[in-house]
Amino acid sequence: MGSSLSCCGAEKVDEGVTLVGVNSPWRIFSYKELYTATNGFSEENKLGEGGFGSVYWGKTTDGLQIAVKKLKAMNSKAEMEFAVEVEVLGRVRHKNLLGLRGYCVGTDQRLIVYDYMPNLSLLSYLHGQFSSQVQLDWRRRMKIIIGSAEGLLYLHHEVTPHIIHRDIKASNVLLDSDFEPLVADFGFAKLIPEGVSHMTTRVKGTLGYLAPEYAMWGKVSESCDVYSFGILLLEILTGKKPIEKLPGGVKRTITEWAEPLIIKGRFKDLVDPRLRGNFDENQLRQAINVAALCVQNECEKRPNMKEVVSLLKGYQPKDKVTQMRMESVKYGEELLALDQGSGDDDDDDDNDPDESKGYGVFGAMEVQKMPEPRIRRGDRRIM
Ligand SMILES: Nc1ncnc2c1ncn2[C@@H]1O[C@H](COP(=O)(O)OP(=O)(O)OP(=O)(O)O)[C@@H](O)[C@H]1O
Ligand SMILES: [Mg+2]
Repeated sequence: MGSSLSCCGAEKVDEGVTLVGVNSPWRIFSYKELYTATNGFSEENKLGEGGFGSVYWGKTTDGLQIAVKKLKAMNSKAEMEFAVEVEVLGRVRHKNLLGLRGYCVGTDQRLIVYDYMPNLSLLSYLHGQFSSQVQLDWRRRMKIIIGSAEGLLYLHHEVTPHIIHRDIKASNVLLDSDFEPLVADFGFAKLIPEGVSHMTTRVKGTLGYLAPEYAMWGKVSESCDVYSFGILLLEILTGKKPIEKLPGGVKRTITEWAEPLIIKGRFKDLVDPRLRGNFDENQLRQAINVAALCVQNECEKRPNMKEVVSLLKGYQPKDKVTQMRMESVKYGEELLALDQGSGDDDDDDDNDPDESKGYGVFGAMEVQKMPEPRIRRGDRRIM
């Protein structure tokens, strides 16, 4: 671990020492301090649970509200995710990326400390515990869309080396008290050496958001994030889940549902009914257009995040065709069968405090060349 953390300037630090990284000031926490702050990692303090552990609300002795992610398993995979997350977080600084507040490395614990985001994740407003409250009006949705896109633009084009997030999804977009979005969870991220256009890796991420070339062949590039962002965009505009389970058990992707409506120009039928018709029609048209560009099967045709941001803000990059084009992705039966729970909880997930359970997840060990797609079923993740 030591070497992995040296990027953050943590070569020689004692507990309690505050470091000023490229990001915001962060420090090393002791396990005892985090244990006390979270009331002994009690159930009442639990904010949610993901594939790699639970997240707890806490308050430090100096009054700072924090979210503590406690990795549940101490194995090489969890260690890798922890190291990647801390490494990447140490490199990023942007208003729409959730930075590092600190971490704790014990003999058998790994904990990451973030600022607490009072509005939790976008998932909780779209499909989770707050979904019935209709708090996401049009203005907030546009702010979340543009803010997340700007966070991604920074990762892809402004930080060196460039970073591919690889797990863009609603539960990884956190919301501050003002509904400003902060993209979180860099545990799956990949740093892209200069001059490299794409890499081949094992598949990580969440089914429903995975670009076809990545899901099938492990081919990863910035454009995989663009695809996931396109799905997220459709999800925010329509209020639909990326994969929905229809009566009878058939699973349908959001692109399969949206494509015919987009082709017919039926924008009002696409928009989330919870908005009750209160939206800006031009912005909706433009945002749907951008989503359609992002979710094209052929990665070369997708826009990059600079173009996405320009289009969302109403500018037209000169060399991009901005007409609607979309080919809905149909994951194979085998792949869809691996998606646990997405959409089969439509009736009860509004009340499910554990919002993360609504999604099937892909996961895997770190980068390895993979000539053929090889996907195996695991504990909610596929390795
Ligand atoms: N900084 C934070 N502030 C407030 N809530 C948070 C914070 N970080 C995480 N959460 C909550 O904890 C939940 C679980 O987060 P976590 O990243 O562990 O899992 P996930 O995103 O649902 O799934 P995955 O493991 O696939 O990333 C989130 O959905 C969110 O509601
Ligand atoms: Mg997450």
